[in-house]
Amino acid sequence: MLEWSQDIPTDGSVELPPDPRALEALGRNHSLETALADLVDNAIDATATHVLIRIVRAGGRLRSLYVVDNGWGMSPNKIDAAMTVGGRREYQTGDLGHFGLGLKAASFSQARSLTVMSRASGYDVVGRRWRPDQATKRGFECEKVASEFAAAEFDRDWHIPMSGSGTVIRWDDVVAFPASDDRKRVETFVDKAITTACQHLGMVFHRFLEDGRLTIEIEVQDIDASFISSPVPVTPLNPFGYSRSGRTDFPKELTAKAGDYELTFRCHIWSGRSNTPQFRLSGTPSSHQGLFFYRRDRLLQAGGWEGIHASDRRLQLARVEVNIDGDVTGLFQMNPEKSRVQVGPEFARLAAAATAADGTTLDSYLDTAEQVYRTSQARTAKRTPMIHPGTGLPPRVRSTIEKEIPGIRGEKPIEIKWIDFTDDTFFKVDRESSTLWLNRRYRQMLLGGKHAGLNDVPLIKSLLYLLVANVFEGEYLGPRDKDNIELWQKILTTAVQAERQ
Ligand SMILES: Nc1ncnc2c1ncn2[C@@H]1O[C@H](COP(=O)(O)OP(=O)(O)OP(=O)(O)O)[C@@H](O)[C@H]1O
Ligand SMILES: [Mg+2]
Repeated sequence: MLEWSQDIPTDGSVELPPDPRALEALGRNHSLETALADLVDNAIDATATHVLIRIVRAGGRLRSLYVVDNGWGMSPNKIDAAMTVGGRREYQTGDLGHFGLGLKAASFSQARSLTVMSRASGYDVVGRRWRPDQATKRGFECEKVASEFAAAEFDRDWHIPMSGSGTVIRWDDVVAFPASDDRKRVETFVDKAITTACQHLGMVFHRFLEDGRLTIEIEVQDIDASFISSPVPVTPLNPFGYSRSGRTDFPKELTAKAGDYELTFRCHIWSGRSNTPQFRLSGTPSSHQGLFFYRRDRLLQAGGWEGIHASDRRLQLARVEVNIDGDVTGLFQMNPEKSRVQVGPEFARLAAAATAADGTTLDSYLDTAEQVYRTSQARTAKRTPMIHPGTGLPPRVRSTIEKEIPGIRGEKPIEIKWIDFTDDTFFKVDRESSTLWLNRRYRQMLLGGKHAGLNDVPLIKSLLYLLVANVFEGEYLGPRDKDNIELWQKILTTAVQAERQ
């Protein structure tokens, strides 16, 4: 038996480049919107002020997706480093890039082909293409895009201000796109994708969008119809965008130190459950309580208590802003997709030690947030109950009404429906069938060109509902209610007729 030896003798070496199929495993945690956020990071690092996302439809199907920015672009020798997996560069303080992976991982998680065409000031446009499944056959070889084609792509009608430099990222064979040319399916997909992307990008980059450092727009180009939709601007979605704090003494800053490192928890309390997009964010409100990690103004994680506390319905008004600057050993690490922060064993201890100048700790903050929640719930419970609406209003409006107004048990919901009237009256209250009838002769006019449907004209229906709901209550219609109905009918009928002229 040989004794153990610390040194391992070697006898030459063989070159074993990674199998290109390894590329396919990159970025598995991405979704379309997180992948787009990664490309926006790169644009921001290149000091772009405008980013345009364009979805291209041809032959009825969705074909490609472009992300175009007016940043400083890449020179011919920089683009190869950019296309290299793990090609880390020298990062400046403030840069969002960190791993040298983002562009590749984000793109390969969504598309079978990534083409980058870029121009740095004073250089020609240069283009490269990566196709991971082709690369498998030919080794790690990145294709050079023909220069005339790259230049033509770069010079397309990207109505964003480009002055001599910028980058065009193109994805083809996008995996998430429906493999169908069915008009309805494609349109539903596009609508949903744009809504989700606007929400995610609006939230992740809200600080950049709010102070005007960055504009992001999304549009759809239909090649067959030679038509480009009007661009949808991504608007900032600030998770701390409440109009009034739940407590006047909040937000508070709690700080704690681990060695030389100081971490600040900025603790906020919303004033009550709210139906604003800033409160709802992407999911149910309960899922967005907790810590919001930002790195260099970019949101990395939207909620979750990371072991400080369990998620709890009663803590849904509590959101904590934590600004970090990259990984700190033992405390936290961001994942390569930059969509989560992984906390380490030291983090819980640091959080427990955090205090504000007035002695507030995270525990006492959580108690206060719970109290504010209870008080806000009690306020809602004190509201006079009303019969809830049935069909006729969009589900979102109905659920807001149900959340805000306590219902009356045992009463049939109020249906709101259009019907032909024999006269000009705008609405009728039918207690027998629990229906609020609307005169169909005004429908087209009120729709103002929009499609008719079960849940059309929600604004007018909601207003009417709020006005008349209580006359549906009780056994009899009192003289006071009768007179009220008559009064409302007179005024609203005159109003709707005035509207028609
Ligand atoms: N839109 C762009 N404009 C200019 N340069 C870019 C652009 N996109 C990528 N690059 C260059 O390509 C390099 C690689 O980008 P990639 O996203 O893969 O890695 P990274 O940004 O350095 O790090 P991370 O993995 O954290 O995103 C960048 O460092 C940058 O130099
Ligand atoms: Mg990057």
